[in-house]
Amino acid sequence: MQYHVSASATDVALDALERILQVVSSSKRPAIALPTGKTPMPLYEQMALLSNDVKASLAAVNWFALDEFLCKDIDHESSFRYFLESRFLRTVNLPPSALCSLSAVTDAPDVEAKAYEERIAAAGGLDLAVLGIGLNGHIGFNEPGTPLDSRTGVRQLTEKSRKANAYLFGDDLDRTPTSAITMGIGTIMSARRIILLATGQSKVPAIASLLSLQSVTPDFPASVLLDHPDAHILCDRAAMGLEV
Ligand code: F6R
Repeated sequence: MQYHVSASATDVALDALERILQVVSSSKRPAIALPTGKTPMPLYEQMALLSNDVKASLAAVNWFALDEFLCKDIDHESSFRYFLESRFLRTVNLPPSALCSLSAVTDAPDVEAKAYEERIAAAGGLDLAVLGIGLNGHIGFNEPGTPLDSRTGVRQLTEKSRKANAYLFGDDLDRTPTSAITMGIGTIMSARRIILLATGQSKVPAIASLLSLQSVTPDFPASVLLDHPDAHILCDRAAMGLEV
């Protein structure tokens, strides 16, 4: 696991974009998993600025959403699907069909999860997983305690994670879902390369915990990256607790 420290969140986004484009150009039909959240927003903003030729090259990718809320009566505008449609697909001129995602409203989440694993396998496995990190070390929506070999499936959200996502539900915690469906830790670890983005002061405790861990523990899911052969933590100075 390697750390790469940039001056600012924009520089982290540019670093991440360069690594994504490297994967895009190194394979005919790569598969890439993308996160939602506040951290990758600058990444998607930078993608919007790409030339039309480079945007066109993104059409060759099998894009996968990392996770989704699970909530029967969710407004589409609060879903991760909508987030990625509006902040990623539209800005790079890709059609909705370019992104595989998990259904937030499915009646059969286990069937949905199994089918997602099959779609990832059919795409040849993930060439790259782009991640953020939760305040409790979660990756995707794999909360502390999730088995390290878990595959795509349903997870209960901690209060901390619900509070962090309440902004998508008008800051109303009561409306913020209590469960989610996510690629598992094992699914993420099967990606050939992983980049985890962490920016801003709020990520100082999470990054400090990650830095201090010598071995993998389910209590801090991101620690699993210690065992990945090609994992990169892209941080800005603020997330490292350094002067900016
Ligand atoms: C979102 C996801 C989560 C977030 C994490 C950090 O798809 O998988 O693990 O990456 O909760 O979220 P932000 O970036 O909002 O701090």
